[in-house]
Amino acid sequence: MFCNDFYKRFYVDEQAAEKIGFNPYYIEVESGLDEWIRMEGRDIIDLASNNYLGLAADIRLKNAIITAVEKYGASLCGTPVSTGYIDLFKTLEKELSDFIGLEDTVILPSCYQANIGLFVSIARKNDLVIVDRFAHSSLIQGAKAVGCKIRPFLHNDMEYLERLLKRSHDYIQVFVVTESVFSTDGTIAPLREINELCRHYNALPIIDDSHGIGVLGNEGKGILDAQNIHDFNGIYTASLGKAFANSGGVICGKKEIIKYLRYYCPHLVYSTSVTPSVLAGIKAVLKIIRNDSGVLKNKLYLYKNILYDSLVEAGFDTVSSPAPINSIRTGSRENTIATAKKLYEKGILSTPFIEPSVPINEGRIRFIAGINLSETAIEQGSEIIKRINQT
Ligand SMILES: Cc1ncc(COP(=O)(O)O)c(C=O)c1O
Repeated sequence: MFCNDFYKRFYVDEQAAEKIGFNPYYIEVESGLDEWIRMEGRDIIDLASNNYLGLAADIRLKNAIITAVEKYGASLCGTPVSTGYIDLFKTLEKELSDFIGLEDTVILPSCYQANIGLFVSIARKNDLVIVDRFAHSSLIQGAKAVGCKIRPFLHNDMEYLERLLKRSHDYIQVFVVTESVFSTDGTIAPLREINELCRHYNALPIIDDSHGIGVLGNEGKGILDAQNIHDFNGIYTASLGKAFANSGGVICGKKEIIKYLRYYCPHLVYSTSVTPSVLAGIKAVLKIIRNDSGVLKNKLYLYKNILYDSLVEAGFDTVSSPAPINSIRTGSRENTIATAKKLYEKGILSTPFIEPSVPINEGRIRFIAGINLSETAIEQGSEIIKRINQT
């Protein structure tokens, strides 16, 4: 056969899904993220999306997006260096910088792209990237793309990190890379300490606040505000596809770095600009968060706590987390998929994590209850969870 050996590379191991009779990935969704989502002709409670603030199908966003489409059309058909840089793009960069509390910002089509583009633009072969061992794939892929030395540190372990920093003299520049909220278990990085260690050892911190922006801190401004960090000299990235309910990724930091990225980050310069609808949607979210952050957060944590209690009552091995995320330990990939199947059949969509997303036999199922869900839906979901192990 033509290129026989080559095609052997593309084996996908679906044995567990076949054995259990359920593949939790790529199930078609037939609606938007409303109070219920529709899948395979049924209304399901969505505890899987990252729609923390429940804004993805909010009428205020929809209206802002429609207005922007009427003014600017569907696409800017150009990168931000040319026709992609509309006035809305520029004002949004400024608004996001002020919100996050850093000097300047660039907006890319996704945070995955932003993270890779960032490393490729600022790091060199003789640099060292010290990275939390649970950091997101995009951060690892970014560092790998540079070809520099990468050293993982134990998750959120500051002594381990300091040991690595002490041994990092031989490198031209050292970066310490982590996430704010680690979304599998909802643990939160001690960024204040990381920032201080970086200052002491002359390393540059890079924080990915994808699951923190809009959620952490009293005003939803993210990890820097939540941990009272006013002297952050590093680089901040975040996805606008989670609490911000749009798409896109930001890179924020000192003016000189951001200016450099505007001209030399290939993932920004050579990629079609985020669409006007997305820019308008992000702007609308900023306004909602500025006005209502306190109310939104109270509801988010209320829902999280109701679900947590029901997971405990059901006898699951729960992970305790300060973030609006609930996770349970499900061990093997068979048990993880089987548990997700039971939940799905009873009307709950969850997020199962199996290897390689987590280490082998450390499967997790994650639940995020966005505040678009009604209290009735949460109560119903909570009752389903409590009884799930009885049948
Ligand atoms: C920590 C983290 N960084 C980056 C990304 C990628 O963001 P985006 O979906 O905007 O590409 C994600 C999304 O899964 C994430 O969780």
